[in-house]
Amino acid sequence: MKRSLLFEPVKLGKLWLPNGVLMAPLTRLRAEADGTPGEMIAKYYEQRASAGLIISEMTVVSAKGQAYLNAPGMYTEGHRKGWRRVTDAVHGAGGRIFSQLAHAGRISHPSLLPGGAIPVGASAVRPAGHVHTRSGSQPYVTPRALEIGEIGGVVKEFADAARMAMEAGFDGVELHSANGYLLDQFLRDGTNWRQDGYGGPAKGRARLLLEVVEAVTEVWGAGRVGVRLSPFNGFNDMSDTNPRETFTVAAEALSGRGLAYLHIFEPVQEAWLTPRLRQAFGGALVVNGGFDVETGNAVVEGRSADAVAFGVPFLANPDLPERLRAGLPLNRPDPTTFYTGGARGYIDYPVHSPIV
Ligand SMILES: Cc1cc2nc3c(=O)[nH]c(=O)nc-3n(C[C@H](O)[C@H](O)[C@H](O)COP(=O)(O)O)c2cc1C
Repeated sequence: MKRSLLFEPVKLGKLWLPNGVLMAPLTRLRAEADGTPGEMIAKYYEQRASAGLIISEMTVVSAKGQAYLNAPGMYTEGHRKGWRRVTDAVHGAGGRIFSQLAHAGRISHPSLLPGGAIPVGASAVRPAGHVHTRSGSQPYVTPRALEIGEIGGVVKEFADAARMAMEAGFDGVELHSANGYLLDQFLRDGTNWRQDGYGGPAKGRARLLLEVVEAVTEVWGAGRVGVRLSPFNGFNDMSDTNPRETFTVAAEALSGRGLAYLHIFEPVQEAWLTPRLRQAFGGALVVNGGFDVETGNAVVEGRSADAVAFGVPFLANPDLPERLRAGLPLNRPDPTTFYTGGARGYIDYPVHSPIV
């Protein structure tokens, strides 16, 4: 049996977590058509309540920020009630859960948006690739650059969703500024060609994120808001000419703002920027990307991070912290059911049964 700091209580912002094995945000597309999470989603998160902290799947802050069919939202009464069932289930099982709030920006399609609207982005830069719509796979369209006068409205959508997450019983929120969605589209220069104060140098490109952080920390107070960044992730056709500069500036700007943590997705096998970002940020750091028990232990024991988020391993192992701690074998994930809807590959992964 392994004893290590990874399995010891850890403080992130205002929260004491019983261990440093976090559940990374995982989109599973099991919500109702209107974005309401139902009973099955409550069961799924309840099964994973032994995580130090669960970070929910990406949850959109408005109908205009949708990316995927059957992805959940945080902007109607139904959403609030549905999420309340989820948080009650997790708390009833002794867990803690943050809501990952997002606006998809250009990673959407007119057929998914109210009134067939053109998706918005930092700039009118079309992503390569296809999006899944009700009428099958469609190529992405060229988004419309958000006008400067519309940006306050987006900040307000995040603040309103953050308030709703609080009313729904979450323990905090994580702002999704990773993986090519709207906040990331502003951060990276492959998608942000703006000439105004929300573009140009890294500081300008980080401005929308900072305004959202300010508005959301006003709702939640210090120590209950995290931010996720993914400096090198090319997913959703993202790029940046100088990730080291862009993300160091962003991490510096995020420091001293009372955030609970900074969450960096940088695959462990090739991670080199994370230590610099930890230094620039100066607060609690959550790392993610291909970790196992050995690399997870090493990074926490070496004080390079405070906690480790596990994605696919948590998806397939509801009792992951105990399995890692006790050195038990892991269930194999089934990628064919990651996004398919239904109970199979969702709430039927078994817990390890002790040999009696
Ligand atoms: C099925 C699936 C869904 C994901 N959904 C999200 C998401 O909603 N938000 C997010 O920030 N990252 C998402 N990710 C990325 C994961 O949080 C994580 O960064 C990735 O799986 C790498 O961590 P791992 O090696 O521990 O799995 C998703 C990954 C997978 C496999």
